[in-house]
Amino acid sequence: MDLGSSPPRLVAPPPGERSRALVDVLARTECPAFTARRARRAEASGSPQDPIVWSEARGANVVDADGNVYVDLTSGFGVAAIGHAHPRVLAALEAQSRKLLHALGDLHPSDVKIALLDRLASIAPFEGARVVLSQSGSDAVETALKTAVLATKKPGVLAFDGGYHGLSHGPLAACGYAPAFRLPFAAQLGAHVRFAAWHEQDLDAALAAVDAAWDDTIGAVLVEPLQGRGGCRPCPEGFLAALTERCRARGALLVVDEILTGLGRCGERWLSVALGASPDLVCVGKALGGGLPVSACLGRAEAMAAWGDPAGEAIHTGTFFGHPLGCAAALAALDVLEDEALSARATQLGARLSTKLARATGRRVTGAGMLLGVRFDRAGDRPVLDLVARLLARGYLVLPAGNDARTLQLAPPLTIDEALLDGFVAVLAEEVRA
Ligand SMILES: Cc1ncc(COP(=O)(O)O)c(C=O)c1O
Repeated sequence: MDLGSSPPRLVAPPPGERSRALVDVLARTECPAFTARRARRAEASGSPQDPIVWSEARGANVVDADGNVYVDLTSGFGVAAIGHAHPRVLAALEAQSRKLLHALGDLHPSDVKIALLDRLASIAPFEGARVVLSQSGSDAVETALKTAVLATKKPGVLAFDGGYHGLSHGPLAACGYAPAFRLPFAAQLGAHVRFAAWHEQDLDAALAAVDAAWDDTIGAVLVEPLQGRGGCRPCPEGFLAALTERCRARGALLVVDEILTGLGRCGERWLSVALGASPDLVCVGKALGGGLPVSACLGRAEAMAAWGDPAGEAIHTGTFFGHPLGCAAALAALDVLEDEALSARATQLGARLSTKLARATGRRVTGAGMLLGVRFDRAGDRPVLDLVARLLARGYLVLPAGNDARTLQLAPPLTIDEALLDGFVAVLAEEVRA
């Protein structure tokens, strides 16, 4: 079977000898937090949480350092929406690498950067969009939060419990996921963020929480249309439209974080817009770069005009923002998403997968398109971390989600063969019964 669409093929029980040797090096050299997390997770789940070491990936497959082949149902944190190492991305990278590897950012931009800006402006959910490119999702959120304060002159940010927007200082201050991420740095984060409780189903409660948290300092409302890392938690119908109205009425900008949900993963280019939002700023990343670190903040022209004020200086830039290789990869990835109609595929495949998962596990399945969460939140459910470890041992890569890790998150490549998903559902059913 071709690498890219192969079912799991394990030659050694994972993690194999080579992976373990490499992880020993990691434990000696990398920041100790990662090793400590592994130990803590093992303790919490009662099963080892030893990683495998990735050495190759193509399509829906990952190969580890020992030659084991896995089916990747994480898309590498949602990045490989078009599959790992898509041939059109590789061809674009090869061609670009022969021409221009690096340019002079915002002073002398590259042709390929301009092409990507133009392309992103054309797919923004508003006319006349202006775009700032960057590398990580956190970068894009930083851009949006800075834009909002420039445009509204109000420093306050309203964010949500369970929301995740990255961990650099700007987004970290608005991180409603796992207080442990924010608290050690609280003294450096300012007190401009107000948090509202997130309600999945009850619109009145959701809006009451927003109103209770809102004060007249709020210049930005930062929201994921579907909380991803927070546990695949949707918002109630009508919530994003009502949030838009409140932003307009109260002089705040609506910042939607589509870094995980956008560009087709959830069956729409912009999930927030499909759910009724009319954003002022949209953050995008992950799938955008086709495997390279590329992110962007797309803004309404009126909001972005505020950047014209500061004394003739590019006060928000970075050496590698709009890097030519990333831009070439992003243009190719956007072509693939469009040409292969992957949004529509995410809708169809995701609906069928959701039904099959619910039937196989007897659990509630939430999410949209190909971002799904199986909710193991009944009293007596075994820890999802344990399930994740057992699925790894059967050749499937999945992630836990939610602050309490009670959700099994699935974010497969949108290009994956349905037979691989069916194989996974059968194995999951066995493991849940076990
Ligand atoms: C919704 C969302 N926003 C922002 C981020 C941060 O992106 P990055 O890790 O590239 O900074 C993530 C990452 O998981 C995310 O899921």
